[in-house]
Amino acid sequence: MPTESVQYPIAGDSAATIVRSVERAVTGGALAPGEAVPSVRALARQLGVSPTTVAGAYRDLRQRGILVTHDRSRTVVGHRPALTSRLAPPLPPDARDLTSGNPDPALLPDLGPALQVVGPVHRLYGDDPGVPALLDLARDAFAADGLTTDHLAVVGGALDGIERVLEVHLRIGDRIGLEDPGYAGSLDLTRALGLVPVPIEIDDQGPVPASLADALDQGVEALLLVPRAQNPYGAALTAERAAELRPLLDAHPDVLLIEDDHASSVAGAPVVTLTPGRQRWAVVRSAAKALGPDLRVALLAGDEDTVLRVLGRQRLGTGWVSHLLQRLTAEVWRRAVDDGSLTAATVAYAARRDALLTALAEHDLEAHGTTGMNVWVPVAEEVPVVQGLLARGWAVQPGEPYRIDAPPAIRITVSSLPPEDAPALAADLADVLGTTLGTRRG
Ligand SMILES: Cc1ncc(COP(=O)(O)O)c(C=O)c1O
Repeated sequence: MPTESVQYPIAGDSAATIVRSVERAVTGGALAPGEAVPSVRALARQLGVSPTTVAGAYRDLRQRGILVTHDRSRTVVGHRPALTSRLAPPLPPDARDLTSGNPDPALLPDLGPALQVVGPVHRLYGDDPGVPALLDLARDAFAADGLTTDHLAVVGGALDGIERVLEVHLRIGDRIGLEDPGYAGSLDLTRALGLVPVPIEIDDQGPVPASLADALDQGVEALLLVPRAQNPYGAALTAERAAELRPLLDAHPDVLLIEDDHASSVAGAPVVTLTPGRQRWAVVRSAAKALGPDLRVALLAGDEDTVLRVLGRQRLGTGWVSHLLQRLTAEVWRRAVDDGSLTAATVAYAARRDALLTALAEHDLEAHGTTGMNVWVPVAEEVPVVQGLLARGWAVQPGEPYRIDAPPAIRITVSSLPPEDAPALAADLADVLGTTLGTRRG
């Protein structure tokens, strides 16, 4: 029988050396994201050190988001630990990749014409961090959605904006309310910042009021919500739900509210915001889904203190987002609005989502995805379903990286799934669920 030292390549005789050994195992791929590490007692026995030493090492690794504890007992490597880890193994060559959350490259605007007109102008240290053409576009778009635009900053994508706002307001150990299920990248980021995630249940209309109230009562310092194209669930906050949530938030005026509008104009729903009247707030709107992830730019609107702090902190580090990138983003954005390509992409994503939801409903399978690029399908057990679909040629994501307490599910990215392929995928999923497993229907 293999011993744990063979199964888990962790060495060390002090907390610091155990930490380094786990980091190396993750970096080298000997411990994969999601893989369990031994219990404190088992590792202490194996290494001949005290359980307190191992517990100290695990605490350090948890505070940095490298390890994550599920259900109070199972400790695993984080989904995307804050280390340079080996990339996930490639999918079999014939598998349809529905794992990535990426936009469909065929629906992204053509960069060529915009690249031709973005002039070869140098900028120098000390210039304004934001490019006026991009700020003007952002101001108009935010204002059209009823958002205050007195204070704006340009950041390097939605996650960069979220990280900066959290950094300037929160401290290690602070609690943050996150949607459950929610975006794995945000969950991993908050853990890497040493914050304590507090789960908030969601349904198709956004956060469930009683669950939000619970999180607020637990003393969260901040809430991070995705108002539309919620990833992985596809929820979009409705005006009715927002009306129920506002009084709950009003009772906690100091709580920082961040809204992550990562899919912006291709989300497939109008934005509904809870930010008006808040003392500390930020809305970050990314170009990544609408214009392409390589245009890693986002616009951040917020209250004066938040935006000034973010700009001040940005000045100490990267300074600004490249003006070349900002000018290109502004040009691509303006053209994509004018030539209708953003509208066409939004319509196509909606058709792909709807086709899969319809096909799954024909097999009586519960699924969620009213907006965005993903469909969330509750299942009894994730791994066998993911494996069963892979055996039939479909690569999908297990839900675990997106969940805190939420029940199991799989996430299917539909952005590149033509409507005509949806029935075959739904039939294969029904087959996997029906032949090998108990199903969750409804
Ligand atoms: C909810 C959510 N927020 C943020 C991001 C990342 O956005 P960005 O590339 O602008 O950092 C994603 C990417 O899929 C996402 O799903």
